[in-house]
Amino acid sequence: MSKVKWGVIGCGGIADRRTLPGMMLADNAELVAVMDTNMEAAERCKEKYNAKYAFDNYEELLAIDEIQAVYIASPVFCHKEQAFAAAKAKKHILIEKPMALTSEDSKEIADCCSKEGVKLGVGLMMRFAAYHQEMKKIIADGKLGDIVSMRAQLTCWYPDIPNNWRQNKDLSGGGALMDMGIHCIDLLQYITGLKVEAIAGFAGTQTFSYNADDSSAVVMRMNNGALAMVDANFNIPDAAAKCKLEIYGTKGSIMAEGTISQVEGGDVAVLISDDSLGYDAAQNRDELVPLKLDVELGNMYTKEVESFGNAVLNDTEPEVTAADGIFVQQIVEKGYLSSDNKITYELK
Ligand SMILES: NC(=O)c1ccc[n+]([C@@H]2O[C@H](COP(=O)([O-])OP(=O)(O)OC[C@H]3O[C@@H](n4cnc5c(N)ncnc54)[C@H](O)[C@@H]3O)[C@@H](O)[C@H]2O)c1
Repeated sequence: MSKVKWGVIGCGGIADRRTLPGMMLADNAELVAVMDTNMEAAERCKEKYNAKYAFDNYEELLAIDEIQAVYIASPVFCHKEQAFAAAKAKKHILIEKPMALTSEDSKEIADCCSKEGVKLGVGLMMRFAAYHQEMKKIIADGKLGDIVSMRAQLTCWYPDIPNNWRQNKDLSGGGALMDMGIHCIDLLQYITGLKVEAIAGFAGTQTFSYNADDSSAVVMRMNNGALAMVDANFNIPDAAAKCKLEIYGTKGSIMAEGTISQVEGGDVAVLISDDSLGYDAAQNRDELVPLKLDVELGNMYTKEVESFGNAVLNDTEPEVTAADGIFVQQIVEKGYLSSDNKITYELK
């Protein structure tokens, strides 16, 4: 099988913990070079993942001819400059979420990639989790009826860390909502096939002393009228939240815990009601037998890398497009605006 030759920019948390291990399992990927401004991190990943080169600057990595694609996993404030440089060096780009500090900047990256004729994919990898893909099928098959309500939650414990880029909204583009809520909003749209058309939000810093939000929630109206809620927190102990995903329709529901995660797994119950159901004034909630789901759990980072690699090898559009990444960032930005200005925004 042909392989895409990769360079990796940023060898920190997500690259070293998830994406590089995932890339090692990808059928169509070969790692050529890694880069981090912290040379120790670059050297560590070079050894660990058997790359040919390690650099402390992206210019040298981009100068390597054989590299066809780069994965950008540096802090968000570095993305734009690096993406522009990579596109100009004619490298295809898989960029982590959020694509840049603002959706305007993300759009400029996308325009630059189009102009340079390189592909741009976005690291919204939770779409590749087997459970999420199965949920999407169940809903597309109409098993839940019309979707009327949904909720997705992603939280972690993220106490004050001196000089941390993610805790400074000027360097990260936003806190819990931009960093984690973005996955939840993207997933709700992806799984249901619906689009957000209006949003009201609350975002604040309740527990810690940094300026990025540690508590945030948004309520959204989808384009079929369904309402969706996303809650994202940096101030809930990891073991104390289950990262719930709930989708309700006129015929049933999907209730999941732990599928919104960096590791595939979790518990999913799909409850389908009897079609012939009439009105029950007593609102009896007789137990429904959950549908059995036949899924094979894998590594969503491997699937993300393989999927983008296939787009490069077959000259097709990436599965998670730049437009997807820009739109979900615009939604999050409107959520923050709503919180600041205490009004509801339409996504137009
Ligand atoms: N999709 C996911 O599952 C997921 C999870 C976590 C983070 N992310 C995203 O990945 C990106 C990185 O997040 P992280 O948690 O790995 O951050 P991190 O702080 O753990 O790692 C960032 C790395 O980049 C290096 N770095 C700093 N400046 C650099 C520069 N100018 N050029 C190259 N490298 C530089 C740092 O030394 C560090 O090793 C962000 O966009 C974040 O939102 C995605």
